[in-house]
Amino acid sequence: MSTVSRKKAIITGGTRGIGKAIVKELASPNENGIIFSDIAFIYGSCDECAEEIIKTVGSSDANVFAFKADVSSYSDAQSIVEKAVSKLGGVDILVNNAGITRDNLLLRMSEEEFDAVIRVNLKSVFNYTKAVLKHMIQQKYGRIINIASVVGLIGNAGQANYAASKAGIIGFTKATAREVASRGITVNAVAPGFIETDMTSKLNEKQRETLLSNIPLKRLGTPEDVAKTVKFLSSNQASYITGQVIAVDGGMTM
Ligand SMILES: NC(=O)c1ccc[n+]([C@@H]2O[C@H](COP(=O)([O-])OP(=O)(O)OC[C@H]3O[C@@H](n4cnc5c(N)ncnc54)[C@H](O)[C@@H]3O)[C@@H](O)[C@H]2O)c1
Repeated sequence: MSTVSRKKAIITGGTRGIGKAIVKELASPNENGIIFSDIAFIYGSCDECAEEIIKTVGSSDANVFAFKADVSSYSDAQSIVEKAVSKLGGVDILVNNAGITRDNLLLRMSEEEFDAVIRVNLKSVFNYTKAVLKHMIQQKYGRIINIASVVGLIGNAGQANYAASKAGIIGFTKATAREVASRGITVNAVAPGFIETDMTSKLNEKQRETLLSNIPLKRLGTPEDVAKTVKFLSSNQASYITGQVIAVDGGMTM
């Protein structure tokens, strides 16, 4: 088992919102003052955002590398992971975070809207998990964290494609956790509720009030709430947790 305190992490979708917070959190020092992890993140667009993250997070002494790719491409995933592993010197942690929405009521939902969400949200998890597994199996250590959603647990009108992709991630997480547990690899999912990001900033006051009435903790979550849960699941302290779905939702789905 790897006992090094400085880990090596690959994160998909690192330029915005939750992914950006995960990059920052994993690159920050743990309680011993040692950088928790060097990072390679994958992003779909916004080269300036990627550069800004490398500059700000990279200056904290963590090594941070960025790769531009479409996470839904199987062949890209295999080559990007090999490049990332060679830059980082290995891989201990994978966070499958990249995701999109293409909301519509089912009767209006196009085949393209359905396929795009399944490809980016679900197939990407297969692509990147498969690519890192051979390295993790060899070293008999790994932490895989998949970002699902409460919508994958309870559904949401207008999001049949998104709910299917996130429920798919949960099934994938449990099946993979069973397959690789004997190799020292844990696989868990984090299911965020409503998090303050670009997506939720578009809500009007009434929508926000209705939302809050269903959240026992009476606030939206922050990207940092999710990132801290991911960091815990990535750590040695979470070594006896696998195949779980941790909702970070202010109690919404209890
Ligand atoms: N924001 C929320 O309230 C919320 C709630 C539950 C779950 N989630 C999930 O958390 C994850 C992050 O959400 P967010 O709100 O931070 O999203 P966001 O839109 O702010 O960021 C998404 C990231 O994914 C990347 N990305 C998107 N499509 C890509 C592609 N094809 N190839 C490569 N990269 C791609 C983008 O470049 C970006 O870095 C998603 O999986 C989302 O479904 C978000």
